[in-house]
Amino acid sequence: MGVRRLALTPPEAAGRRWVVDQMRALDLAVRVDRIGNVYAHRRGLRPELAPVLIGSHIDSVATAGIFDGCLGVLGGLEVIRALDEAGVETVRPIEVAFFSEEEGARFGTDMLGSAVATGRIPLEQAYALIDRGGVSVREALEAIGFLGEAPELLDPPHAYLEVHIEQGPTLAARGLELGVVTGVQAISWRELQLTGKSAHAGTTPTELRCDAGLVAAQIAVEVRRMATSGEFRDLRGTVGVLRPHPGLVNVIPGRCDMTVDLRSPDDAALEAAEAHISAFVERVAAEEKVALESRQTARTATVRFDERLQERIASAADQAGLRYERLVSGAGHDAQEMASICPSAMIFVPGENEGISHNPRELSTPEQCAAGVSVLLEVALGLAQEEDA
Ligand code: GLV
Ligand code: MN
Ligand code: MN
Repeated sequence: MGVRRLALTPPEAAGRRWVVDQMRALDLAVRVDRIGNVYAHRRGLRPELAPVLIGSHIDSVATAGIFDGCLGVLGGLEVIRALDEAGVETVRPIEVAFFSEEEGARFGTDMLGSAVATGRIPLEQAYALIDRGGVSVREALEAIGFLGEAPELLDPPHAYLEVHIEQGPTLAARGLELGVVTGVQAISWRELQLTGKSAHAGTTPTELRCDAGLVAAQIAVEVRRMATSGEFRDLRGTVGVLRPHPGLVNVIPGRCDMTVDLRSPDDAALEAAEAHISAFVERVAAEEKVALESRQTARTATVRFDERLQERIASAADQAGLRYERLVSGAGHDAQEMASICPSAMIFVPGENEGISHNPRELSTPEQCAAGVSVLLEVALGLAQEEDA
Protein backbone atom coordinates (compact mmCIF):
# COMPACT_ATOMS: atom_id res chain seq x y z
CA MET A 1 0.00 0.00 0.00
CA GLY A 2 1.39 3.39 -0.92
CA VAL A 3 1.13 6.87 0.56
CA ARG A 4 2.07 10.37 -0.52
CA ARG A 5 2.31 12.46 2.61
CA LEU A 6 4.77 15.23 1.85
CA ALA A 7 5.67 17.35 4.86
CA LEU A 8 3.26 20.12 5.90
CA THR A 9 0.78 19.46 3.07
CA PRO A 10 -2.97 18.91 3.67
CA PRO A 11 -2.61 15.08 3.55
CA GLU A 12 0.21 15.25 6.08
CA ALA A 13 -1.86 17.62 8.25
CA ALA A 14 -4.67 15.04 8.21
CA GLY A 15 -2.11 12.45 9.40
CA ARG A 16 -0.89 14.83 12.09
CA ARG A 17 -4.42 15.40 13.38
CA TRP A 18 -5.09 11.67 13.42
CA VAL A 19 -1.93 10.97 15.44
CA VAL A 20 -2.69 13.86 17.82
CA ASP A 21 -6.17 12.35 18.38
CA GLN A 22 -4.50 9.03 19.22
CA MET A 23 -2.18 10.84 21.65
CA ARG A 24 -5.08 12.61 23.36
CA ALA A 25 -7.07 9.37 23.53
CA LEU A 26 -4.16 8.01 25.58
CA ASP A 27 -4.52 11.00 27.92
CA LEU A 28 -1.15 12.41 26.90
CA ALA A 29 -0.41 16.15 27.09
CA VAL A 30 0.35 17.29 23.55
CA ARG A 31 2.58 20.24 22.67
CA VAL A 32 3.57 21.58 19.26
CA ASP A 33 6.83 23.49 18.92
CA ARG A 34 7.72 26.36 16.60
CA ILE A 35 8.96 24.05 13.84
CA GLY A 36 5.83 21.89 14.03
CA ASN A 37 7.38 18.99 15.95
CA VAL A 38 4.71 17.33 18.09
CA TYR A 39 5.44 15.86 21.53
CA ALA A 40 3.03 13.82 23.68
CA HIS A 41 3.89 13.65 27.38
CA ARG A 42 3.06 10.85 29.83
CA ARG A 43 3.60 11.92 33.42
CA GLY A 44 6.30 10.34 35.56
CA LEU A 45 6.33 9.90 39.33
CA ARG A 46 9.20 12.39 39.34
CA PRO A 47 8.10 14.99 36.81
CA GLU A 48 11.27 17.05 37.31
CA LEU A 49 13.41 14.29 35.74
CA ALA A 50 14.24 14.37 32.03
CA PRO A 51 11.89 12.16 30.02
CA VAL A 52 12.64 9.14 27.90
CA LEU A 53 11.83 10.27 24.37
CA ILE A 54 10.56 7.90 21.68
CA GLY A 55 10.08 9.29 18.18
CA SER A 56 10.25 9.27 14.42
CA HIS A 57 8.30 10.96 11.61
CA ILE A 58 5.02 10.71 9.72
CA ASP A 59 5.91 12.70 6.59
CA SER A 60 6.83 10.64 3.54
CA VAL A 61 8.51 10.82 0.16
CA ALA A 62 6.13 11.17 -2.78
CA THR A 63 6.16 7.44 -3.56
CA ALA A 64 6.21 5.95 -0.08
CA GLY A 65 5.13 2.82 1.71
CA ILE A 66 3.27 3.00 5.00
CA PHE A 67 6.00 1.93 7.45
CA ASP A 68 8.86 4.42 7.08
CA GLY A 69 8.68 6.65 10.17
CA CYS A 70 5.13 5.69 11.17
CA LEU A 71 6.33 2.48 12.80
CA GLY A 72 8.42 4.51 15.24
CA VAL A 73 5.63 6.95 16.12
CA LEU A 74 2.80 4.42 16.41
CA GLY A 75 5.20 1.98 18.08
CA GLY A 76 5.88 4.66 20.69
CA LEU A 77 2.15 5.10 21.29
CA GLU A 78 1.82 1.32 21.59
CA VAL A 79 4.45 1.40 24.35
CA ILE A 80 2.31 3.96 26.22
CA ARG A 81 -0.82 1.85 25.68
CA ALA A 82 0.93 -1.28 27.00
CA LEU A 83 2.12 0.57 30.11
CA ASP A 84 -1.36 1.99 30.71
CA GLU A 85 -3.02 -1.40 30.29
CA ALA A 86 -0.56 -2.98 32.71
CA GLY A 87 -1.09 -0.09 35.16
CA VAL A 88 2.63 0.72 35.17
CA GLU A 89 3.78 4.08 36.47
CA THR A 90 7.31 5.14 35.63
CA VAL A 91 9.71 7.30 37.59
CA ARG A 92 10.53 9.45 34.57
CA PRO A 93 8.04 10.88 32.13
CA ILE A 94 7.89 9.25 28.69
CA GLU A 95 7.32 11.32 25.57
CA VAL A 96 6.41 10.24 22.06
CA ALA A 97 7.26 12.66 19.26
CA PHE A 98 6.99 13.09 15.54
CA PHE A 99 9.36 15.50 13.83
CA SER A 100 8.67 17.76 10.84
CA GLU A 101 10.05 17.14 7.33
CA GLU A 102 12.30 14.19 8.15
CA GLU A 103 12.38 13.18 4.51
CA GLY A 104 13.52 16.47 3.00
CA ALA A 105 11.22 15.52 0.12
CA ARG A 106 9.39 18.86 0.03
CA PHE A 107 11.82 21.51 1.31
CA GLY A 108 15.07 19.80 0.31
CA THR A 109 16.71 19.36 3.74
CA ASP A 110 16.21 16.10 5.62
CA MET A 111 15.77 15.67 9.40
CA LEU A 112 14.68 19.31 9.46
CA GLY A 113 12.48 19.28 12.56
CA SER A 114 14.85 17.23 14.69
CA ALA A 115 17.84 19.26 13.48
CA VAL A 116 16.09 22.44 14.64
CA ALA A 117 15.10 20.82 17.95
CA THR A 118 18.73 19.92 18.67
CA GLY A 119 20.14 23.26 17.51
CA ARG A 120 22.01 22.15 14.37
CA ILE A 121 19.77 24.20 12.07
CA PRO A 122 18.61 27.64 13.34
CA LEU A 123 14.83 28.15 13.34
CA GLU A 124 14.93 31.16 11.02
CA GLN A 125 17.03 29.26 8.48
CA ALA A 126 14.51 26.40 8.54
CA TYR A 127 11.54 28.79 8.21
CA ALA A 128 13.09 30.34 5.10
CA LEU A 129 13.41 27.09 3.13
CA ILE A 130 11.00 26.98 0.20
CA ASP A 131 9.39 24.20 -1.80
CA ARG A 132 9.26 24.05 -5.61
CA GLY A 133 6.17 26.27 -5.62
CA GLY A 134 7.89 28.98 -3.56
CA VAL A 135 5.99 28.22 -0.32
CA SER A 136 8.18 28.61 2.78
CA VAL A 137 8.32 26.23 5.73
CA ARG A 138 6.85 28.93 7.95
CA GLU A 139 3.96 29.58 5.54
CA ALA A 140 3.28 25.86 5.23
CA LEU A 141 3.25 25.42 9.02
CA GLU A 142 0.80 28.30 9.36
CA ALA A 143 -1.40 26.98 6.56
CA ILE A 144 -1.86 23.58 8.19
CA GLY A 145 -2.27 24.99 11.72
CA PHE A 146 0.91 23.46 13.14
CA LEU A 147 3.01 26.56 13.77
CA GLY A 148 3.22 25.83 17.48
CA GLU A 149 4.34 27.96 20.39
CA ALA A 150 6.49 25.56 22.40
CA PRO A 151 10.22 26.43 22.29
CA GLU A 152 11.89 24.63 19.42
CA LEU A 153 15.10 23.85 21.34
CA LEU A 154 14.56 20.61 23.18
CA ASP A 155 15.78 20.19 26.76
CA PRO A 156 18.03 17.12 26.56
CA PRO A 157 15.94 14.00 27.23
CA HIS A 158 17.28 11.19 29.43
CA ALA A 159 17.55 9.07 26.27
CA TYR A 160 16.07 8.83 22.78
CA LEU A 161 14.84 5.61 21.15
CA GLU A 162 13.54 5.02 17.64
CA VAL A 163 12.22 1.83 16.09
CA HIS A 164 12.26 1.87 12.29
CA ILE A 165 12.12 -0.49 9.34
CA GLU A 166 15.58 -1.38 8.06
CA GLN A 167 14.79 -0.14 4.53
CA GLY A 168 17.33 -2.56 3.07
CA PRO A 169 17.85 -6.29 2.43
CA THR A 170 20.43 -7.25 5.07
CA LEU A 171 18.37 -8.48 8.04
CA ALA A 172 15.93 -10.57 5.99
CA ALA A 173 18.72 -12.07 3.87
CA ARG A 174 20.48 -13.25 7.03
CA GLY A 175 17.29 -14.64 8.55
CA LEU A 176 17.40 -12.10 11.40
CA GLU A 177 14.46 -10.72 13.34
CA LEU A 178 15.98 -7.49 14.62
CA GLY A 179 18.84 -5.07 14.03
CA VAL A 180 20.74 -3.18 16.72
CA VAL A 181 21.78 -0.02 14.92
CA THR A 182 25.34 1.09 15.63
CA GLY A 183 25.09 4.43 13.83
CA VAL A 184 24.25 6.24 10.62
CA GLN A 185 26.47 6.84 7.61
CA ALA A 186 27.43 10.34 6.44
CA ILE A 187 25.10 12.00 3.92
CA SER A 188 25.71 14.75 1.37
CA TRP A 189 22.98 16.26 -0.80
CA ARG A 190 23.58 18.79 -3.54
CA GLU A 191 21.23 20.54 -5.98
CA LEU A 192 22.68 21.51 -9.33
CA GLN A 193 21.20 23.88 -11.89
CA LEU A 194 22.86 23.61 -15.28
CA THR A 195 22.10 26.34 -17.82
CA GLY A 196 23.03 25.93 -21.46
CA LYS A 197 21.26 27.00 -24.65
CA SER A 198 17.97 25.63 -25.84
CA ALA A 199 17.94 25.18 -29.63
CA HIS A 200 16.62 23.10 -32.52
CA ALA A 201 17.55 19.40 -32.40
CA GLY A 202 17.77 18.99 -36.15
CA THR A 203 19.51 22.13 -37.28
CA THR A 204 22.01 23.04 -34.56
CA PRO A 205 25.49 21.73 -35.39
CA THR A 206 26.95 19.63 -32.61
CA GLU A 207 29.92 21.97 -32.08
CA LEU A 208 27.56 24.91 -31.45
CA ARG A 209 25.55 23.17 -28.73
CA CYS A 210 25.51 23.98 -25.02
CA ASP A 211 23.53 20.94 -23.92
CA ALA A 212 22.64 20.99 -20.23
CA GLY A 213 21.11 17.52 -20.53
CA LEU A 214 24.38 16.07 -21.79
CA VAL A 215 26.29 17.50 -18.82
CA ALA A 216 23.68 16.06 -16.43
CA ALA A 217 24.01 12.65 -18.06
CA GLN A 218 27.80 12.73 -17.71
CA ILE A 219 27.44 13.57 -14.02
CA ALA A 220 24.98 10.71 -13.44
CA VAL A 221 27.35 8.23 -15.11
CA GLU A 222 30.29 9.52 -13.07
CA VAL A 223 28.35 9.15 -9.82
CA ARG A 224 27.73 5.48 -10.60
CA ARG A 225 31.35 4.97 -11.63
CA MET A 226 32.52 6.47 -8.34
CA ALA A 227 30.27 4.09 -6.40
CA THR A 228 31.60 1.00 -8.16
CA SER A 229 35.27 1.90 -8.63
CA GLY A 230 36.30 1.18 -5.02
CA GLU A 231 38.08 4.57 -4.91
CA PHE A 232 35.70 5.94 -2.27
CA ARG A 233 35.15 3.22 0.33
CA ASP A 234 31.55 1.91 0.38
CA LEU A 235 30.21 4.98 -1.42
CA ARG A 236 26.55 5.07 -2.45
CA GLY A 237 25.67 7.62 -5.12
CA THR A 238 22.28 8.57 -6.54
CA VAL A 239 20.98 11.09 -9.04
CA GLY A 240 17.34 11.16 -7.97
CA VAL A 241 16.16 14.35 -9.67
CA LEU A 242 16.94 14.92 -13.32
CA ARG A 243 14.75 17.51 -15.02
CA PRO A 244 15.65 18.68 -18.50
CA HIS A 245 13.90 21.81 -19.79
CA PRO A 246 11.90 22.23 -21.84
CA GLY A 247 11.79 18.40 -21.99
CA LEU A 248 10.76 18.07 -25.62
CA VAL A 249 11.88 15.49 -28.16
CA ASN A 250 13.22 17.98 -30.68
CA VAL A 251 14.71 20.66 -28.41
CA ILE A 252 18.23 20.63 -26.94
CA PRO A 253 17.82 20.97 -23.16
CA GLY A 254 18.70 24.56 -22.30
CA ARG A 255 18.51 23.84 -18.60
CA CYS A 256 18.71 20.80 -16.41
CA ASP A 257 17.99 20.62 -12.68
CA MET A 258 19.42 17.67 -10.84
CA THR A 259 20.41 16.36 -7.42
CA VAL A 260 23.34 14.27 -6.24
CA ASP A 261 22.99 12.15 -3.07
CA LEU A 262 26.31 10.72 -1.82
CA ARG A 263 26.65 8.57 1.31
CA SER A 264 29.41 6.68 3.07
CA PRO A 265 30.08 5.13 6.47
CA ASP A 266 33.55 6.72 6.20
CA ASP A 267 33.70 10.51 6.66
CA ALA A 268 37.04 10.88 4.85
CA ALA A 269 35.76 8.84 1.88
CA LEU A 270 32.67 11.03 1.61
CA GLU A 271 34.75 14.21 1.73
CA ALA A 272 36.99 12.88 -1.03
CA ALA A 273 33.95 11.90 -3.11
CA GLU A 274 32.43 15.37 -2.71
CA ALA A 275 35.65 17.03 -3.80
CA HIS A 276 35.92 14.69 -6.78
CA ILE A 277 32.37 15.21 -8.04
CA SER A 278 32.60 19.01 -7.60
CA ALA A 279 35.72 19.16 -9.76
CA PHE A 280 34.15 16.78 -12.30
CA VAL A 281 30.95 18.87 -12.52
CA GLU A 282 32.91 22.07 -13.06
CA ARG A 283 35.03 20.48 -15.77
CA VAL A 284 32.20 18.91 -17.82
CA ALA A 285 30.05 22.03 -17.50
CA ALA A 286 32.90 24.25 -18.74
CA GLU A 287 33.63 21.87 -21.64
CA GLU A 288 30.01 22.21 -22.82
CA LYS A 289 29.84 25.97 -22.03
CA VAL A 290 27.09 25.32 -19.56
CA ALA A 291 26.73 27.61 -16.52
CA LEU A 292 26.59 25.96 -13.15
CA GLU A 293 24.82 26.79 -9.90
CA SER A 294 25.46 24.38 -7.09
CA ARG A 295 23.97 24.34 -3.60
CA GLN A 296 24.54 21.95 -0.71
CA THR A 297 21.08 21.16 0.71
CA ALA A 298 22.00 18.64 3.39
CA ARG A 299 25.22 17.44 5.01
CA THR A 300 25.63 15.20 8.02
CA ALA A 301 28.69 13.39 9.30
CA THR A 302 28.69 9.77 10.46
CA VAL A 303 26.97 9.28 13.81
CA ARG A 304 27.62 6.55 16.37
CA PHE A 305 24.81 5.54 18.67
CA ASP A 306 25.26 5.15 22.42
CA GLU A 307 27.04 1.87 23.29
CA ARG A 308 25.17 1.39 26.55
CA LEU A 309 21.81 1.70 24.78
CA GLN A 310 22.96 -0.69 22.05
CA GLU A 311 23.79 -3.18 24.82
CA ARG A 312 20.36 -2.77 26.37
CA ILE A 313 18.65 -3.36 23.03
CA ALA A 314 20.81 -6.44 22.41
CA SER A 315 20.02 -7.87 25.84
CA ALA A 316 16.27 -7.20 25.45
CA ALA A 317 16.46 -9.01 22.10
CA ASP A 318 18.31 -11.90 23.77
CA GLN A 319 15.66 -12.13 26.46
CA ALA A 320 12.93 -12.22 23.83
CA GLY A 321 14.80 -14.95 21.97
CA LEU A 322 15.16 -12.83 18.84
CA ARG A 323 17.94 -13.36 16.33
CA TYR A 324 19.70 -10.03 15.78
CA GLU A 325 22.89 -8.43 14.53
CA ARG A 326 24.43 -4.99 14.71
CA LEU A 327 24.40 -2.87 11.58
CA VAL A 328 24.96 0.68 10.34
CA SER A 329 21.96 2.55 8.96
CA GLY A 330 22.11 3.46 5.28
CA ALA A 331 19.22 5.91 5.66
CA GLY A 332 19.12 9.13 7.62
CA HIS A 333 17.01 9.26 10.79
CA ASP A 334 15.87 11.72 13.48
CA ALA A 335 17.85 9.61 15.98
CA GLN A 336 21.09 10.88 14.47
CA GLU A 337 20.14 14.44 15.39
CA MET A 338 19.05 13.45 18.90
CA ALA A 339 22.42 11.71 19.35
CA SER A 340 23.98 15.19 19.61
CA ILE A 341 22.05 16.04 22.79
CA CYS A 342 21.38 12.73 24.58
CA PRO A 343 22.20 9.00 24.50
CA SER A 344 20.31 7.71 21.46
CA ALA A 345 19.80 4.41 19.71
CA MET A 346 17.70 2.65 17.09
CA ILE A 347 16.05 -0.72 16.62
CA PHE A 348 15.55 -1.99 13.06
CA VAL A 349 12.94 -4.49 11.96
CA PRO A 350 13.44 -6.45 8.73
CA GLY A 351 11.43 -5.85 5.59
CA GLU A 352 9.99 -8.20 2.98
CA ASN A 353 10.60 -7.73 -0.76
CA GLU A 354 14.36 -7.30 -0.17
CA GLY A 355 13.58 -4.56 2.33
CA ILE A 356 12.41 -2.25 -0.40
CA SER A 357 11.55 1.24 0.91
CA HIS A 358 10.55 4.66 -0.42
CA ASN A 359 8.26 2.47 -2.49
CA PRO A 360 4.64 1.29 -2.03
CA ARG A 361 5.88 -2.32 -1.80
CA GLU A 362 7.51 -1.55 1.56
CA LEU A 363 6.33 -4.31 3.92
CA SER A 364 7.15 -5.59 7.38
CA THR A 365 4.83 -8.20 8.87
CA PRO A 366 2.82 -7.58 12.07
CA GLU A 367 5.12 -10.12 13.79
CA GLN A 368 8.27 -8.30 12.65
CA CYS A 369 6.86 -4.95 13.79
CA ALA A 370 5.67 -6.39 17.11
CA ALA A 371 9.14 -7.83 17.84
CA GLY A 372 10.73 -4.42 17.35
CA VAL A 373 8.13 -2.61 19.44
CA SER A 374 8.37 -5.20 22.26
CA VAL A 375 12.10 -4.56 22.49
CA LEU A 376 11.40 -0.82 22.40
CA LEU A 377 8.97 -1.25 25.33
CA GLU A 378 11.49 -3.23 27.36
CA VAL A 379 14.32 -0.74 26.85
CA ALA A 380 12.13 2.36 27.29
CA LEU A 381 10.68 0.96 30.52
CA GLY A 382 14.14 0.23 31.94
CA LEU A 383 15.30 3.75 31.15
CA ALA A 384 12.13 5.34 32.49
CA GLN A 385 12.67 3.68 35.88
CA GLU A 386 16.18 5.12 36.29
CA GLU A 387 16.38 7.75 39.00
CA ASP A 388 19.95 8.76 38.28
CA ALA A 389 21.08 10.94 35.41
C1 GLV B 1 15.70 9.45 4.54
O1 GLV B 1 14.77 8.67 4.32
C2 GLV B 1 16.92 9.32 3.78
O2 GLV B 1 16.98 9.84 2.67
O3 GLV B 1 17.83 8.62 4.25
MN1 MN C 1 12.29 7.20 8.03
MN1 MN D 1 12.34 7.79 4.39
